[in-house]
Amino acid sequence: MPALGIVVVAAGSGTRLGHAEPKAFVELRGIPILEHALTRVFDSVEPAQVVVVAPESRIAAARTIARRVAGPAEDAVTVVVGGASRQASVLAGLAALAPDVEVVLVHDAARALTPASLVDDVVRAVRATGGGVIPALPVADTIKRVADGEVRETIDRSALVHVQTPQGFPRRALDAAYAAATEEYTDDAAAFTAAGGTVTTVEGDARAFKITTRWDLRRAENVLGTRVGGMRTGIGVDVHAYDETSPLWLGGLYFPDEPGLAGHSDGDAVLHAVCDALLSAAGLGDLGSRFGTSDPRFRDASSEVFVRETLALVGGAGFSVVNVSVQVIAARPKLAPRRSELEAHLATLVGAPVTIGATTTDGLGFTGRAEGIAAIATALLAAS
Ligand code: CTP
Ligand code: MG
Repeated sequence: MPALGIVVVAAGSGTRLGHAEPKAFVELRGIPILEHALTRVFDSVEPAQVVVVAPESRIAAARTIARRVAGPAEDAVTVVVGGASRQASVLAGLAALAPDVEVVLVHDAARALTPASLVDDVVRAVRATGGGVIPALPVADTIKRVADGEVRETIDRSALVHVQTPQGFPRRALDAAYAAATEEYTDDAAAFTAAGGTVTTVEGDARAFKITTRWDLRRAENVLGTRVGGMRTGIGVDVHAYDETSPLWLGGLYFPDEPGLAGHSDGDAVLHAVCDALLSAAGLGDLGSRFGTSDPRFRDASSEVFVRETLALVGGAGFSVVNVSVQVIAARPKLAPRRSELEAHLATLVGAPVTIGATTTDGLGFTGRAEGIAAIATALLAAS
């Protein structure tokens, strides 16, 4: 049994949603909310025991959904009956964990669109800190204290966050915290801190919002509508100056007897443009903001490291790569003789077809004066 356990609580009735069906079994674009949540949990990287906590009346349905999502990992799933409160349901889930589970995440099924990458982030942070970890986002709205319908005070929101799930904890410490609990807490971190535990935050994700009302359900439908079966394009550009003292790496290949490129890593403008195109298509920012050009881990690193990390992020955000296209703008090196070799190498690296074109600029501009290389890439992603 894996050392990670994920308790997905889905035993609520969904009073505020107001459906006849318990909330986790209400369909969102034809798929039950629980199935959306579990699909993303199972897309996370580390193998886990996944405990689904369901209403007694829906145990069979929960089992069917969980098996469908788990596929060949069916053995990883446990389905148990929940309780009258969220806390009671969490306790039922914790009681079903295998003895050797060391890290436990508790997740609301109602946060149906929570990306797998958030699960990964929380697991990683629990292991790194040894304490509780919750996803948090800054409060955007101005917050006021009111009494008798009258505004009394504006609260300084800079110290406030709103928190999401999954919330992660060392398993024994969470068990002990709940065993000592004397009241109902609204989240697991509250029970954990009440028992003296330390909880830190990781950056939450807007997609981890909780479906509570019909308005939320409509919003979730809309978010999905633009993603499921949808395609996203992205673009990336990179420029590096020639550096006679460095070897030339371009598109992950070594070009002997050519001036190299200046840069923090190996200066591989083709791979950098490809990363930026992938990140842009997935809405994940860009190379600089993701990997930090001053990060010593990446000094003189082969840029293939960036491509691999980028692909993990893109996959974690629920996308697969359809194809990538690159145009190199440079006076040298001549790419035509090695074009098919380059394309084959990049296709293996990216896991999808990559095409390469090259052009000069007729003597104009910095590429014309042979001061450096520019590369432009586009990427097409499919929401999975
Ligand atoms: N939950 C649970 N058991 C309960 C109550 C809640 O497992 N007795 C779960 C819900 O299924 C949900 C999560 O806890 O995934 C967050 O609760 P909430 O959004 O409040 O869901 P409901 O309690 O179902 O909704 P409502 O409060 O509107 O009735
Ligand atoms: Mg509730």
